[in-house]
Amino acid sequence: MEKLLITGGSGFLGSRLKAAYQDKYEVCTPTHSELDITNRDSVAAFFITERPDKVIHCAGMADVVTCERNPDESAVVNVVGSLNMATVAAQYKAKIIICSSDQVYCGNRGNVAHNEDEVVFPYNQYGKQKRSAEKECQRVNPESIILRLSWMYEPDNLSDFTRMDYPRNLCNKIMNNEKLRYSTRDRRGITDVNEVVANMEKAFELPGGIYNFGSPNKFNTYDLTKNLISSLGISLRYIEEDTAAFANNSRNLLMSQEKINKYGIVFRNSYDALYDCLRDKIKVPV
Ligand SMILES: NC(=O)c1ccc[n+]([C@@H]2O[C@H](COP(=O)([O-])OP(=O)(O)OC[C@H]3O[C@@H](n4cnc5c(N)ncnc54)[C@H](OP(=O)(O)O)[C@@H]3O)[C@@H](O)[C@H]2O)c1
Repeated sequence: MEKLLITGGSGFLGSRLKAAYQDKYEVCTPTHSELDITNRDSVAAFFITERPDKVIHCAGMADVVTCERNPDESAVVNVVGSLNMATVAAQYKAKIIICSSDQVYCGNRGNVAHNEDEVVFPYNQYGKQKRSAEKECQRVNPESIILRLSWMYEPDNLSDFTRMDYPRNLCNKIMNNEKLRYSTRDRRGITDVNEVVANMEKAFELPGGIYNFGSPNKFNTYDLTKNLISSLGISLRYIEEDTAAFANNSRNLLMSQEKINKYGIVFRNSYDALYDCLRDKIKVPV
């Protein structure tokens, strides 16, 4: 059995990868205190002892607002941590997948989905750090498989609000008779985490490089929500356009799937997957 190291194994994505792949691999998920990715010597010592064949690097500071407030601390985790993982993986000949983000596109304009060859202009700390990590990982380990993930959600247990995501926000607002406020100037893919988990193994077959890795979506966030609640038979009084958000600069994080599709990796579009996730589950107050 091959040994698979998953960093960030206690996190949203890492914990689901661990559960999904533990029968197929000898999965190794050290906690933050067992393996601090910011310490190169600890990372090297870990590889010497554990000798993983494959690595999925999920550890990071994944919250955009936290990164904005703590630029130095988050850069150490997101950039130096990823650099350490890619460097040591190359030394010990382990195949590595690095989790990047659609936020690298936050400064790119237009309404169409971005492709991986575009020059990117991230303006928030998180997007800048993810882009720096991509460049550093490619420099030290050109075999790195770098996946630009989009906003993910857990489709099950929608009444568990421990960690909010798009469908939970939708259910929560409607249950509490509150308005959903989204902008027509915001475009992004929203992806079922289970699809990311299922496609992750195929990603190990990709040649080193950068790949958009999430659901396509043709709607802006306001229209997506409006169409969803309308199809679910819910009154449109629950939705209101947020005219203040992105008023000066519209945002387009949409990602083209053309490159991964060529390798047989496919994601459902955000609307269809969210409709299936919410259908029969959402409770409307009477
Ligand atoms: N979730 C999304 O929608 C989304 C979207 C795009 C990209 N991504 C990217 O996907 C990856 C996984 O995201 P996620 O949502 O699963 O993140 P998460 O739930 O916040 O989990 C992050 C994990 O990283 C660990 N960690 C933080 N600093 C560490 C360090 N110095 N050394 C070792 N471990 C450390 C955390 O452990 P402790 O909690 O113990 O510190 C936690 O297990 C991240 O790279 C994120 O940027 C996520």
